[in-house]
Amino acid sequence: MLNCIQTKWIIVALALVFSHCGQQLEPQAKLAKMQPNVSSELAVAMRAMDGELVSLIARHAREDDWGGAALTQFDLTHLMPTDSSMLVDGYSAFSIAFSKQIDAFNAAPSADTYSGVVSGCLSCHMHACPGPLARINKRRLNEH
Ligand code: HEC
Repeated sequence: MLNCIQTKWIIVALALVFSHCGQQLEPQAKLAKMQPNVSSELAVAMRAMDGELVSLIARHAREDDWGGAALTQFDLTHLMPTDSSMLVDGYSAFSIAFSKQIDAFNAAPSADTYSGVVSGCLSCHMHACPGPLARINKRRLNEH
């Protein structure tokens, strides 16, 4: 049997693991208040990218008119994550593949290249940080 203190530490450890991956559940949002420094550079960039996808969908996807659309190229290999366990094997390969998807989109914005970007988000997330997968799935074009 686990005693009370052990159980408490396990709960704290699990909550930290999940909250670092940006899950949006209420109990984790409450826990985040105990940490003075919640957002890593990488998490901030991720939220910015996610916001860009949301506005691309609103402005371009509905009409299937991608003229003038562009995404910011963040250097994901150099931004610091919340903790180094997120830099899983293959992380830099995923970043490089992803930055090529962004380049392809910016060179020729279209539904196709947009979908390439979203699959780049999903492939890295399946390995490095599954928390936001449900949210990222909502950025797929067939979800709209
Ligand atoms: C190369 C890997 C990689 C790619 C590509 C990637 N992510 Fe992430 N993402 C991460 C990691 C690692 C974290 C956790 C960052 C942290 O907590 O420090 C994260 C965190 C997030 C979060 C949670 C941020 C928060 O509020 O804490 C969201 C949302 C997110 N990513 C969306 C996206 C979207 C949308 C894309 C594609 C446009 C994307 N990610 C591409 C690795 C990646």
